[in-house]
Amino acid sequence: MNYKLIDMKVFGDERGKLISLEGNKNIPFEIKRVYYIFDTIPDFERGKHAHKNLEQIIVAMDGACQFVLDDGKTKETVWLNRPDKGLYIGPGMWREMRHFSYGCKLMVLASTYYDEKEYIRDYDEFLAGVNR
Ligand code: TYD
Repeated sequence: MNYKLIDMKVFGDERGKLISLEGNKNIPFEIKRVYYIFDTIPDFERGKHAHKNLEQIIVAMDGACQFVLDDGKTKETVWLNRPDKGLYIGPGMWREMRHFSYGCKLMVLASTYYDEKEYIRDYDEFLAGVNR
């Protein structure tokens, strides 16, 4: 399974908490793109795709949602519900996001610019690729 949960170092004191993310340091790739997902609806799922080369780190800045991660053989679920945990997802992983809490905000750091050609959005095509 090409994913892992990363503990972010927290700088905290009586004023609050701070986390710093740096490409090729605590983020294991050069950050080319940042996007965020908000105003999600609990009944609606997102994702349902894999990437050929893209690496991502996803952080639930607020609220919670569940990720289903699938390498074509095994499916595992991960809850993202803390701003000090980063979910790294590498290439070749089918992902689905569901059970969004109201107000959930996901920040995503990505290793490449957006490129629709880099997506695999058909599950059968994904399975054919990983079982090659
Ligand atoms: P989509 O891939 O459906 O989002 P999810 O990650 O939840 O599956 O993306 C929604 C729309 O946003 C789609 O039209 C593509 C566009 N988009 C960009 O233009 N740039 C980006 O960096 C991303 C992630 C999406």
